[in-house]
Amino acid sequence: MKLKDKVAVITGAGSGLGRAIALRFAAEGARIVIAELNEAKGEEVLREVQATGVEAFAVPTDVSNSAAVTSLFQALDDRGWPVDILVNNAGNAGQLTPVHQMTDEQWHGVVHVHLSGTFYCTREAIKRMLAQGRGGAVINLGSVAGLRGLPGGSSYTAAKGGIISFTKGVAQEYAAQGIRVNCIAPGWVETPILENLPDQIRPLMVANTPLGRIGKPEEIAAVALFLASDESSYVIGQTISPNGGLHT
Ligand SMILES: NC(=O)c1ccc[n+]([C@@H]2O[C@H](COP(=O)([O-])OP(=O)(O)OC[C@H]3O[C@@H](n4cnc5c(N)ncnc54)[C@H](O)[C@@H]3O)[C@@H](O)[C@H]2O)c1
Repeated sequence: MKLKDKVAVITGAGSGLGRAIALRFAAEGARIVIAELNEAKGEEVLREVQATGVEAFAVPTDVSNSAAVTSLFQALDDRGWPVDILVNNAGNAGQLTPVHQMTDEQWHGVVHVHLSGTFYCTREAIKRMLAQGRGGAVINLGSVAGLRGLPGGSSYTAAKGGIISFTKGVAQEYAAQGIRVNCIAPGWVETPILENLPDQIRPLMVANTPLGRIGKPEEIAAVALFLASDESSYVIGQTISPNGGLHT
């Protein structure tokens, strides 16, 4: 078991990639904290995780709300749970909109959740990792959109590009304390987030991916496990992009 006795906080774990990561980490012996905006979805995944035999709890959380994130980590403190792993995964794709038509609300609705949410959670987790004195792993979810741009998704592109750069800077701040900060920038992966995209985009996703298919959440969870475990002990500030060849 690669994560035995570790505690992993996973945001947006009620669906898609977060759910797959929670189940994969649980299978490796980690205790799981589900921080999810949608309470019902969070509870559903909590039951799946608990069925694997590990300890877990869920905290309904909006990661774009600084006070809510403080309460999330307070809930760990109250239970006497440390923080060994943070996965900043919560997010939404917004609606594809050309930048000249994008409203302030559309912009902030995407940038604030991804970028501020990642900052708020990272700050609270790292405070605790420093106090614990035994290192830790922070894994941020970027996107190929943050590497090459997504036309019509300027807010998403900016947020994901920001997360990739945030990863590089923060990784250097805490490397000496054994806290490894890395990023995963997936290509297209089959999750509910794709439901917001227009139908005509789907064939293009496959056509533009040299492997000839959309990815599975478990294929991203495998990369997350690598970055969370000691297997990646010399990997710091990197962005790994499992994308079927979409971006090389
Ligand atoms: N699926 C893809 O193709 C793909 C590709 C690249 C990157 N990503 C990124 O992976 C991450 C997970 O996406 P997914 O595909 O699993 O999507 P998803 O829609 O299946 O899951 C996202 C989860 O985040 C939750 N969430 C949204 N806003 C939140 C908030 N403010 N606070 C807490 N939880 C919130 C949602 O309720 C949902 O359960 C996102 O950051 C996304 O941008 C996804």
